[in-house]
Amino acid sequence: MQAIKVRAEAASDFNAIDVVNLSAFQGESEAQLVSDLRKSAGFIPDLSLVAELNGRIVGHVVLSRVPLNSGGKSREILALGPMSVVPSQSHRGIGTELIDAAVARAKPLCYEAIAVAGHPDYYRRFGFKPAADWGVSCNLELPEDALLAMELVDGALAGGGEVEYPDIFRALF
Ligand SMILES: CC(C)(COP(=O)(O)OP(=O)(O)OC[C@H]1O[C@@H](n2cnc3c(N)ncnc32)[C@H](O)[C@@H]1OP(=O)(O)O)[C@@H](O)C(=O)NCCC(=O)NCCS
Repeated sequence: MQAIKVRAEAASDFNAIDVVNLSAFQGESEAQLVSDLRKSAGFIPDLSLVAELNGRIVGHVVLSRVPLNSGGKSREILALGPMSVVPSQSHRGIGTELIDAAVARAKPLCYEAIAVAGHPDYYRRFGFKPAADWGVSCNLELPEDALLAMELVDGALAGGGEVEYPDIFRALF
């Protein structure tokens, strides 16, 4: 396969990212969420990444800041998603490259942990574990095993807590 290039999104990519999300998911909710995330307080431009193949955008992932509330205190961790790869290019490792790049870029920005609401079997291979193992839950209505998390700093999730997804995520869950 040709080399995949993963880089931060630019404004000129927004339409292509829309197309990736519309093709990967049924309906428009994820594409809308990505647009809404860009206008939200938790958006981090350097952590909205595209995968390019031969100059075309074929995948996208975004990590945004979310509060983790625990014991009356709140601190920010990252939430991964939505993530998408165009169906014609799926099962070729592009999703893996996007997640690896996202995790590698999040660490030097000093974030301590990442949460993801998604397919447990897919995310476990990257080192995500059930969030419940740390006593971490979230404010979305989803099956308990669909919330996973990864510590970027050892012990970061030891106190458990609730991930407070912003309302714009509720259209999905
Ligand atoms: C999930 C997704 C991003 C994976 O991208 P990808 O480039 O195909 O991922 P990779 O090639 O790195 O990994 C593929 C492996 O992931 C696994 N996988 C893919 N989709 C999966 C799913 N929905 N549930 C569980 N595992 C899945 C398979 O084991 C697959 O292995 P295989 O190729 O041997 O069958 C892509 O399939 C996609 O956009 N799906 C639709 C949107 C979606 O569900 N996004 C994630 C929301 S949580």
